[in-house]
Amino acid sequence: MGNRRTTARVGKTGGAERRSYRLLVVADQIALAKEAAERCARIAEEAVALAGRFTIALSGGSTPKLLYSLLAAEPYSTRLPWRKTHVFWGDERVVPPGDPDSNFGMAKAALLDRVPIPADRVHRMQAERDDLDLVAREYEAEIARSFSLPTGGEPPAFDLILLGLGPDGHTASLFPHTEAVRERDRWVVRNHVPKLNSDRVTLTAPILNRGETVLFLVTGADKAPALQAVLEGPADPDRFPAQLIRPMSGRLIWLVDRAAAGMLTREAK
Ligand code: 6PG
Repeated sequence: MGNRRTTARVGKTGGAERRSYRLLVVADQIALAKEAAERCARIAEEAVALAGRFTIALSGGSTPKLLYSLLAAEPYSTRLPWRKTHVFWGDERVVPPGDPDSNFGMAKAALLDRVPIPADRVHRMQAERDDLDLVAREYEAEIARSFSLPTGGEPPAFDLILLGLGPDGHTASLFPHTEAVRERDRWVVRNHVPKLNSDRVTLTAPILNRGETVLFLVTGADKAPALQAVLEGPADPDRFPAQLIRPMSGRLIWLVDRAAAGMLTREAK
């Protein structure tokens, strides 16, 4: 992957504690999907070798779609241990699973329908239901069951968490100045997002920051101001919720394309 630039950085994101992260800048969204696919495969293989299974939380939106399509094709469709893989989501929109806006629906069409993953290993957020607080609690219980943990305690550690970045600095469905940004205990919550005039169901910072590897995928010039603010701006996670993501002991990787990295002042041009 000749035209990849790696910058190992010690950054101060979202608070006084210094947290290091890796910044990988690649040429474009195709190079980004290829790099991400290779990393997913390696992390899955390591997790299965270590613990006999691989747990991943998928991101929604448009950026990961190419990655999901690559994972559904050779060599990854046979290389990844799909029968030992548990798939969860970082967040979901309040639509039925067949809706074009469904994060589950997108991943199902681009990936899950095309690889041999057992249905009981696909853990969907049922965000089309009325009582979203109940949906959030049930999803917490499903995560706890899958990790053989009690709910309410320390959240489990997903092997890999994929996240995106909105132009406003949101990630998962942790939108600026919304209640879920301030959540410190719950793993999954309903989050009302006034700017969307809608609710979302989302994983929270406490569980996202338990991830063994948290991999942000960010492409396009429209994300450049937010990326610069999150990585290089003052700590203001209420305004830039992606700054909340500082894994306690896991790895934080920002995989971005050149267009998204365009405003980073400390990035070697
Ligand atoms: C969602 C996502 C969200 C997404 C960003 C980036 O449900 O929308 O989980 O956090 O990752 O909004 O979206 P794009 O990839 O479409 O730019």
